[in-house]
Amino acid sequence: MNTLEIQGKAGSSTIYLDSRMEAVKALINGRRTVIITDENVFRLHSARFPIAAETIVVPAGESSKTLKSAGDVFRSLVDAEVDRESLVLGIGGGVVTDLAGFVASTFLRGVAFGFVSTTVLGQVDAAIGGKNGVNLDGFKNLIGIIRQPEFVLNETAMLDTLPKGEIINGTSEIIKSGLIADAALFDLMEQAAKTDSPYDTLDMGKAASMAAAVKVGVVNRDVFEKGERRHLNLGHTLGHAVEKVAKLPHGYAVAVGMIAAARISRDRNMISSNDVERIINVVTAFGLPVAIDMDLKKSMDAIRKDKKRQSDKVNFVLLKSLGEATVVPIAFDELEEVLRDLR
Ligand SMILES: NC(=O)c1ccc[n+]([C@@H]2O[C@H](COP(=O)([O-])OP(=O)(O)OC[C@H]3O[C@@H](n4cnc5c(N)ncnc54)[C@H](O)[C@@H]3O)[C@@H](O)[C@H]2O)c1
Repeated sequence: MNTLEIQGKAGSSTIYLDSRMEAVKALINGRRTVIITDENVFRLHSARFPIAAETIVVPAGESSKTLKSAGDVFRSLVDAEVDRESLVLGIGGGVVTDLAGFVASTFLRGVAFGFVSTTVLGQVDAAIGGKNGVNLDGFKNLIGIIRQPEFVLNETAMLDTLPKGEIINGTSEIIKSGLIADAALFDLMEQAAKTDSPYDTLDMGKAASMAAAVKVGVVNRDVFEKGERRHLNLGHTLGHAVEKVAKLPHGYAVAVGMIAAARISRDRNMISSNDVERIINVVTAFGLPVAIDMDLKKSMDAIRKDKKRQSDKVNFVLLKSLGEATVVPIAFDELEEVLRDLR
């Protein structure tokens, strides 16, 4: 079985790539286990859950990533008599793994936890890296903790039941991973993008595994986001604004943000116009947007509020090549120009 390892001050984690849910049983290794999942994953996949354990089912979607639902889960853990030897197993997408990781990291000052990751976004990003948290008053991930899951298990076949929109959403992060750190992954996406049916051509297990390896590599080098981990934010500074103002799903908004970052990189002679075209072609082929008609003032206001802001500039991830990133402070005026071009 193909595995990746995260080692560091926030704990260690083994990521099982292209694995099978059944393999979790050996990882649980007889411990008292409570499963946290959401209603969609429970409906579609609970017949294959690896053990007959107490199962907490939360509503699907972002509304479950709150202190209120964390409180409900804490109470269920008390009822289930979870102790320090127990294991919390999150089976689901990023919402479930963020919530399960947060609850497990704080209950009894921390019990062991592991994830079975069931969305593309989860398999390449959300379940990996030890960031666990919930939202507060509309602010995403405001309350949280960095602590590694003992294991993350990815099964590609689980993605067969995912709605197309969720697959497209996660694919945006795969393209991002290639752009920031793995030229071979970008090539893989580009080869598939050139065919009539990119999603049928793409070996999703391989692409997701390569993207997971990018995240693991970055996290191992910078677990507390002091430097390189910021590269994972390619497309995200602007993406968060697009997500808020134009109400686009996260991955779609990040795609627009990546195009903006590519154009700024070109304007600074870091990559060529041809490189920008290649990125646009790949993003488009995988069903993601490259332009967006949104309110300029509202977008700039949202970016100004972004937590990565520094006075009249914002830290932006740019591309040195298709496979290498760097962080550069960008003046708001320059950003406004690029936003205008995106419309
Ligand atoms: N911790 C991190 O480092 C990190 C990184 C990126 C994103 N995130 C978080 O991840 C969350 C988004 O994750 P997501 O995109 O996986 O969303 P999600 O967990 O809401 O899942 C998307 C939808 O797919 C459904 N679903 C999940 N697995 C399925 C399957 N196999 N078949 C059918 N339906 C399935 C879910 O019920 C949900 O409706 C956000 O809250 C975001 O903040 C966290």
